Amino acid sequence: MNDVLPLHVRDLTVRFAGLTALDGIGFTVEPGTVHAVIGPNGAGKSTTFNVLSGVYRATSGTVHLGETELTGLPPHRIAALGVARTFQNLALPPRTTVADSLLLGRHRLTRAGFVAAGLRLPAAVREERAHRERVREIAEFVGIADQLDTATGALPYGAQKLAELARALCMEPKVLLLDEPVAGMTADERRRTAAVIAGVRDSLGISIVLVEHDMGVVMRLADEVTVLDFGKRIAGGPPATVQNDPAVIQAYLGAPDEPESAA
Ligand SMILES: Nc1ncnc2c1ncn2[C@@H]1O[C@H](COP(=O)(O)OP(=O)(O)OP(=O)(O)O)[C@@H](O)[C@H]1O
Ligand SMILES: [Mg+2]
Repeated sequence: MNDVLPLHVRDLTVRFAGLTALDGIGFTVEPGTVHAVIGPNGAGKSTTFNVLSGVYRATSGTVHLGETELTGLPPHRIAALGVARTFQNLALPPRTTVADSLLLGRHRLTRAGFVAAGLRLPAAVREERAHRERVREIAEFVGIADQLDTATGALPYGAQKLAELARALCMEPKVLLLDEPVAGMTADERRRTAAVIAGVRDSLGISIVLVEHDMGVVMRLADEVTVLDFGKRIAGGPPATVQNDPAVIQAYLGAPDEPESAA
C-alpha cells in the first residue's frame, strides 16, 4: 500500500482578468477516499484541478499534501510528489501504442533515463523490462491488457479514457485527479470505469479527487462531496447529505423559470 497523505485545500482563490473562477474554497481529501468535486458548468471544477496539478497559479490560498505545500510548484514537481491527473479531454498521443503511452507515464520513475534506454545499455534494458512488466500489471488492473499493442487512437472511446487513467496510475501516484472520467462513455463503459476507480481506492489505497457530471457515478463512488457554484463552495459532506441540500438542488435546477406572461 501507498503511504497516502491527506490533501488540504485552504481558502483557494483564482482570478482571471475580471473573473473570479474560485472564491475562497476549501476541502480536505482524506487518505484512500474518493472525494468528488461537483457543480454546474463553469463552477470552477477544472480550475480547481488546474491549481492542484500546478497548471494554474492560485491568486491566494494554499494546497498541501500532508505537510508539503504544493501551491506555486510547477506541474512536474507536483507530479513527482505523487499527484497525477487525467484531463477532461483526451490527452494521449493517438499514434503511440497503449504500452508505450503507459511507459511514458513511468518517466519520472525511470532511473536510467530514456537516453540510456535508447542506447540499449544493459542496466537500462533491465530497467525497461521491469517497467514494461508493471505497465502490463496496471493494464490488467484497468482491463485494457488485450490492447497494449494497439495505437491509442484506434481504441474505442471508453478504452481510450481507461488508457489515460492507466497512464496516470503508471506514475504510482498517492493522489489521482480524475476530470470527468466517464464523460462520453456508454452505460457499459461507465459501469466498468466506476468499478476500476473503486478498485484504485480499495485495492491500491490511492486517494482520488473526482470531477464528474454523472451523478449516479458520483453518488455511488464518492465518500465525500464538495459542491461548487460560481466559484464558491456551497455545500459539502457525504453524498446522501449533499444530494438533499436545498442549495445544491437550487444550483443544479437554476433559477425558477419566469412564469409565462399571461396573455
Ligand atoms: N484560463 C482561463 N482564462 C479565463 N477564464 C477561465 C480560464 N479557465 C477557466 N476560466 C473561467 O473560470 C470559470 C470556471 O471554469 P472551469 O473550467 O473551472 O469550470 P468547470 O466547473 O470545470 O465547468 P465544466 O463543467 O463546464 O467543465 C469559467 O467562467 C471559465 O470561463
Ligand atoms: Mg471542467
